[in-house]
Amino acid sequence: MPDPVLKVEELSCGFNTEDGYIRVVERLSFDIDAGKTLGLVGESGCGKTVTALAIMGLLPRPSGHIEGGTVFFRGNDLSNTSTPSLKEVRGKSISMIFQEPMTALNPVHSIGKQLVEAIHLYEPEIHRTDQRTRALELLTKVGIPEPAQRLKEYPHQLSGGMRQRVLISIAIAGNPDLLVADEPTTALDVTVQAQILELLRNLQTNHGMAMMLITHDLGVVAEICDEVLVMYAGRTAERANVTQLFEIPRHPYSQGLMASIPKLSAPCKVPLPVIDGIVPALDNLPSGCPFSNRCRYSDNKCEKENPPLMDAEPGHQVACHHWQSLGK
Ligand SMILES: Nc1ncnc2c1ncn2[C@@H]1O[C@H](COP(=O)(O)OP(=O)(O)O)[C@@H](O)[C@H]1O
Ligand SMILES: [Mg+2]
Repeated sequence: MPDPVLKVEELSCGFNTEDGYIRVVERLSFDIDAGKTLGLVGESGCGKTVTALAIMGLLPRPSGHIEGGTVFFRGNDLSNTSTPSLKEVRGKSISMIFQEPMTALNPVHSIGKQLVEAIHLYEPEIHRTDQRTRALELLTKVGIPEPAQRLKEYPHQLSGGMRQRVLISIAIAGNPDLLVADEPTTALDVTVQAQILELLRNLQTNHGMAMMLITHDLGVVAEICDEVLVMYAGRTAERANVTQLFEIPRHPYSQGLMASIPKLSAPCKVPLPVIDGIVPALDNLPSGCPFSNRCRYSDNKCEKENPPLMDAEPGHQVACHHWQSLGK
């Protein structure tokens, strides 16, 4: 087996705040193989973006802080940021796209200028005339019609979906080995969402990229992911391949997320089940299982002991004291 493209081991990170240090992500571990997509799922505020920023070396400084763990990218230890060549690796071989394509593009520069800047970054020796050809090629690759016209336009002249396509074209300009996509479709209409997912899937198949897809939407996960990590309050609740997770979700939190996906077969007007309660504040987590205050299976043990991640079956792990009696 070749090494995974990305190997994250026991990553913990957090922020110094006025109220002291708050750990946001605790001992997160996962691998992503070439050509595969890992979905990072969980409610808003559970630490998905912080995880991505930590991997990218982009945690806001000086408050953000990697407390422990390692991030290996194709065998290189990225946590050792003092090595300049590794900074380059991050810039060139790992790309990231964000939720809001308007804020990620510069409003005062044309699409062409921004694309050429990216191309120049990855291929400094490329000739000016070839830069334009390459820019046109990239826009075509991400399905942008009339690319020559688009090069002259400014971000506000494009629709949200088109802007996200432009960002994707910038992200793939350097042929990255890993694409980190943070809620890339959340701000878009449903039909556009589906088109962007399809585009990401095609690019991935054609380029053999590894992808980390961050989403709060299990529908998106089902559509595009191979492996899934369900996060709750910065911790792993469950990790499985997508079939295992959808067939037998083991963690009560994953079960709750599943139950809240609308089903076509359900009678109309039956309200969707919701997970009661809210995510506890990260600086005030229950002392046992972080989900215990919302979990209907919670007992004494859950309130006292934080469950470790346990193997339910090969490739399927769950952090719940009761997993054996659940998920049947
Ligand atoms: N710069 C920061 N300073 C302090 N806390 C932060 C900062 N950025 C994020 N956080 C906290 O980290 C937690 C996780 O945030 P985030 O990773 O953005 O969640 P998600 O992407 O899953 O919605 C939140 O509780 C948030 O308040
Ligand atoms: Mg986020």
